[in-house]
Amino acid sequence: MTLQTEQLHPLYAVKISGFDMRQNTSLADIAALKEVLDEYAVCAVPHEVPLTNEEHIGFGALLGPVARKTMPKITGTGARVPHNEIVDQSNLDGDGNIYPDQDKRLAYKRANRLWHTDMSYRSNRATWSLLSAHVCPPEGGETETTDMRAVYDDLPEKMKGRLEGLVAEHCYWHSRLLGGGPEPTPEERASRPPAQHSLVHIHPTSGRKVLYIASHVRSIAGMPDDEAKDLLEELRAIALQPKYVYAYPWNVGDVLIWDNLATMHRGTDFDDQKYVRDMRRVTCREQ
Ligand SMILES: [Fe+2]
Repeated sequence: MTLQTEQLHPLYAVKISGFDMRQNTSLADIAALKEVLDEYAVCAVPHEVPLTNEEHIGFGALLGPVARKTMPKITGTGARVPHNEIVDQSNLDGDGNIYPDQDKRLAYKRANRLWHTDMSYRSNRATWSLLSAHVCPPEGGETETTDMRAVYDDLPEKMKGRLEGLVAEHCYWHSRLLGGGPEPTPEERASRPPAQHSLVHIHPTSGRKVLYIASHVRSIAGMPDDEAKDLLEELRAIALQPKYVYAYPWNVGDVLIWDNLATMHRGTDFDDQKYVRDMRRVTCREQ
């Protein structure tokens, strides 16, 4: 099967037309989609109406093992979306109301506006994220991505040499605090311990080299913190040059799939006290 694609950015990211995640579920469809994802890393799949939670989870499971919530809830979190396979990325509480400005749960969600890659703080990392748009704000709230394969390819040889063998520690709470969230409780902190990953990895299916950084990175093994901070800032600045960044303009019903092992992303600002943004994520993970 050949998918109809329209490239969205000169380096990566495509929109697929005529693909319905409710119907295009054969082995050949999935293989074709994975091929597109390996080449373009980010893939938008529009639908007339949003997938149901069950359809969303079901399609994710065709791509790979789906991550489930395993940690205790952040204190006070209501289950608006009653599925352990769905990460509720909305600004709504368990009753469907917009979180008040000072709410701790909203503060943690706002940290998703920092550049990151999903679940890098886990030892078995996220592979593909499938984000489904149920309600979009009228302004802001795009999802921005950057192609970390192209970023690595373009690094000066001296920098590539410097990065060789370096291992970073990724910690969920580091980015929550960086994003302005409050100190987690000891129980919350223990629920998501840090994980270590190479700063550069070879993508498991495309074979391309990737710079693997995120706002979750707290330290680099064997490097003084000041030096690590400077190095990470330098890499981040390189990765966020406009030539690598693409902002996806959402419509209700769209599903955006990105490869976490090849890209970074973030949600852009929007008025989360005025507008609802209801995005739900199913995440595939490494074995
Ligand atoms: Fe994310």
